[in-house]
Amino acid sequence: MTDGFQAPKGTYDLLPPDSRLALAVRAAMIDAARSAGYEYIETPVFEDTELFARGVGESTDVTKEMYTFDDRGGRSITLRPEGTAAVVRSVLEHGLARGQLPVKLYYSGPFFRYERPQAGRYRHFWQVGAEALGTEDPAVDAELIVLATDAYRALGLTQVRLLLNSLGCRECRPAYRAALQDYLRGVDLDRQTRQRVEANPLRVLDDKRPEIQALLADAPLVTDHLCAACKAFHEEVRRLLTDAGVEFVDEPRLVRGLDYYTRTLFEFVHTGLGAQSAIGGGGRYDGLSEMIGGPPLPSVGWALGVDRTVLAMRAESVEPPSAARVEVFAVPLGEDARRTAFRLVTELRRAGLGADLAYGQRGLKGAMKAADRSGARYALILGDRDLAAGVAQLKDLTTGDQEPVALDGLVATMKEKLQ
Ligand code: HAM
Repeated sequence: MTDGFQAPKGTYDLLPPDSRLALAVRAAMIDAARSAGYEYIETPVFEDTELFARGVGESTDVTKEMYTFDDRGGRSITLRPEGTAAVVRSVLEHGLARGQLPVKLYYSGPFFRYERPQAGRYRHFWQVGAEALGTEDPAVDAELIVLATDAYRALGLTQVRLLLNSLGCRECRPAYRAALQDYLRGVDLDRQTRQRVEANPLRVLDDKRPEIQALLADAPLVTDHLCAACKAFHEEVRRLLTDAGVEFVDEPRLVRGLDYYTRTLFEFVHTGLGAQSAIGGGGRYDGLSEMIGGPPLPSVGWALGVDRTVLAMRAESVEPPSAARVEVFAVPLGEDARRTAFRLVTELRRAGLGADLAYGQRGLKGAMKAADRSGARYALILGDRDLAAGVAQLKDLTTGDQEPVALDGLVATMKEKLQ
């Protein structure tokens, strides 16, 4: 049956009822961002490759995983692997940072990484992201972390852990990088990892192999190398989070797969997921604007993974929200009743109520089954004899009670009942 029909490797179709969960996840994340004044931005799904090469960093995993191709005009194009570089590009292009700062923006959409697919890791996945551009205030870092925490909580998730770190700034990072390199040059590593020590030593901290982790036990910690300004900044973020009742774990070995981070760095992990446990993450990227050729624009943001958050909800057996947008389900019995039902359903919908009707020539039994399945509270049964008397039978599908209702003024009656 399914021969010949198959979504591309690393992708999947989002079908009901999981699609309901995904919508609820996006809505909660978007809601959190909007509650703090973030406004919606949409940028193209592809950008000039140059933007990501400069913004994401040449030697990162994300850059190695990009979908890059030449278009018919010979331009090198890349399907966006992440959203932050494009948001910065757009803010610079349109001069948004010339007005009130910070510029607060959120986005929601698909992203693409040519990864080795596994549970929770896809080549096409969905993020909701929020970015606050043009401020160095640690309260904004804390705000974003609180918003994400509240979004997960609103979704009913209880097994989310927040990992927090600071990566320092261009003043103190070089000394830490050198100290880490010194340490790593002194331990026994394979050739590929030794190359990484030279190109991007912080990434070695993220190596998941237990034998490498064991070698890292005594590696210098970034938090011991922060300059006074970075230390004070980090302390302030921690204090604001504590005041807001947000629990976090200090994780001085936390690094992430993108090169643009400075100072605050965080990740949300879900303890009920396997290897792909990061359900969201972000941090401060004070140098990204300059990396892509713009003026200084200190900024901070996050991106929350919709796919993995859906998996987390399943792992915690959080019920998908009811699909019951349909509140009244009309069951016409006969041709005239069908036309009347269509008119009534249209009127109910125009009045803002959710309404559907039994289409096709179904018997009463089949139609009532459809009414049940729709999630509607009421079935409105229209028989010819009732119609002649200007009424229909209204059945409460939760109690089973049934009563006649006048068709005149039906919208008002139903609005009252559904209040
Ligand atoms: P990221 O950590 O690369 O950060 O991605 C954020 C989230 O997207 C991850 O925590 C994960 O939940 C989800 N995600 C990433 N890759 C995949 C995949 N292959 N399959 C499924 N889910 C995935 C960023 O993208 C940064 N732009 C975040 C940010 C915003 N930093 C500052 N502002």
